[in-house]
Amino acid sequence: MPDPIFVLNGPNLNRLGAREPQIYGAATLADVRAACEAKASGLGYGVEFRQTNHEGELVDWVQEAADRAAALVINPAAYGHTSVALHDALKLVGKPIVEVHLSNVAKREPFRRGSYVSPLADGVITGLGLRGYELAVEAACLLARERSS
Ligand code: DQA
Repeated sequence: MPDPIFVLNGPNLNRLGAREPQIYGAATLADVRAACEAKASGLGYGVEFRQTNHEGELVDWVQEAADRAAALVINPAAYGHTSVALHDALKLVGKPIVEVHLSNVAKREPFRRGSYVSPLADGVITGLGLRGYELAVEAACLLARERSS
């Protein structure tokens, strides 16, 4: 088995399903996890799936991804719009990075338009809900495979 795809989720995503379903959809984080695992396993990868409400913990996990991930999928949630610490940690990953957002952040409040993650991502998927995670994991697996060959 190659190194796993890390799928890291930021604050409030533990409330998926109950949280503003008109924006984020009905899927729970457990549903998202199951979809990511299914997609990755079909492509020969395992998944390390985590969620935190704490910025420092997210930074720790990004550093861990630098050491032991084949690629990183990250929904930084609100920290994507605010966190220079996350940006600095992502700079050191050295593996494919795919940023994902369930909602289309470009269609929402102006304060969601900036991202400290996007300049460091290989690609960004926004507005496709649960399907966006599947696409992000697929892209991460393909990029990881390309870079290891
Ligand atoms: C989000 C979009 C962010 O603006 C927001 O703060 C979130 C979720 C998304 O998945 O659509 O918490 O990252």
